[in-house]
Amino acid sequence: MRSVRKRWTVCTISLLLIFYKTKEIARTEERQEAPLAGDGELSLSRSMINSSDKIIRKGSSAIFQHSVEGWKINSSLVLEIRKSILRFLDAERDVSVVKSSFKPGDVIHYVLDRRRTLNISQDLHSLLPEVSPMKNRRFKTCAVVGNSGILLDSGCGKEIDTHDFVIRCNLAPVVEFAADVGNKSDFITMNPSVVQRAFGGFRNESDREKFVRRLSMLNDSVLWIPAFMVKGGEKHVEWVNALILKNKLKVRTAYPSLRLIHAVRG
Ligand SMILES: *[C@@H]1O[C@H](CO)[C@@H](O)[C@H](O)[C@H]1NC(C)=O
Ligand SMILES: *[C@@H]1O[C@H](CO)[C@@H](O)[C@H](O)[C@H]1NC(C)=O
Ligand SMILES: *[C@@H]1O[C@H](CO)[C@@H](O)[C@H](O)[C@H]1NC(C)=O
Ligand SMILES: *[C@@H]1O[C@H](CO)[C@@H](O)[C@H](O)[C@H]1NC(C)=O
Ligand SMILES: *[C@@H]1O[C@H](CO)[C@@H](O)[C@H](O)[C@H]1NC(C)=O
Ligand SMILES: *[C@@H]1O[C@H](CO)[C@@H](O)[C@H](O)[C@H]1NC(C)=O
Repeated sequence: MRSVRKRWTVCTISLLLIFYKTKEIARTEERQEAPLAGDGELSLSRSMINSSDKIIRKGSSAIFQHSVEGWKINSSLVLEIRKSILRFLDAERDVSVVKSSFKPGDVIHYVLDRRRTLNISQDLHSLLPEVSPMKNRRFKTCAVVGNSGILLDSGCGKEIDTHDFVIRCNLAPVVEFAADVGNKSDFITMNPSVVQRAFGGFRNESDREKFVRRLSMLNDSVLWIPAFMVKGGEKHVEWVNALILKNKLKVRTAYPSLRLIHAVRG
């Protein structure tokens, strides 16, 4: 069982990184600060708990070794990092809350703003997965694609798409950049603020259509919406949920579990 779980862990590390970025963005939004230029980009956070922080930092300098033949992975270090992460994270369980976690009308506290509350709506409840979207899903390789722009003109699209599982951030556009970023998505995050920034706040029908088209292209991949971080995005989350239901989109919604957040905060 443990060895099976290990296989997931490179992806798990990636998800953690996405998660931390998401958290940073949530905080930024809360403070209503200026442009979120690096939105979706991956980065390590200072708030990463100490023990794993150390190992991951060590990882970033030693996990890949450059030599004349190119980059080589340090497998023993990979195992060490996996072991460390599995001490506090169960990726399959923590990736999303499930339907049985709540009932409609339940009131929960925002994770990063304990004084404010969210009322679990009927729509939100109906979109919670019955079981973890990662249950029994095991992959040999994964690609995590950030949004910094570093892939522009890279021609990496084909290579990215060869991976068994492709993780993307913040509903990034792919069609326009497919040659550089690929077009396969198995797991994509979406901060509620994307509705405002990339889809005009759904002010008119064409904004909504554009959004529905984007989600249709995701097919049945996992759409991961951090809905329980801070107050402010709940209206957007509700609009998104309503559009998914109304258009019977196949996308598999997931909402990061409260436990995930507490677990990685230590
Ligand atoms: C992390 O470790 C440093 C020293 O290594 C310590 O000063 C700091 O308080 C620790 N932070 C947490 C959150 O444990
Ligand atoms: C690989 O990582 C281990 C730590 O697990 C470290 O001791 C070793 O020096 C690293 N190997 C290389 C070639 O960097
Ligand atoms: C939560 O929302 C439902 C439906 O909108 C409403 O009936 C219920 O009273 C609300 N509960 C709280 C505690 O606000
Ligand atoms: C997008 O994906 C399809 C397969 O789903 C593939 O045939 C096509 O070449 C891809 N487009 C680009 C630009 O990579
Ligand atoms: C809809 O709103 C967007 C801005 O959010 C605007 O660019 C576009 O022209 C509008 N379309 C229509 C049909 O009003
Ligand atoms: C959508 O998903 C189904 C089932 O996974 C697959 O057969 C189909 O090719 C996918 N379509 C696209 C456009 O990716």
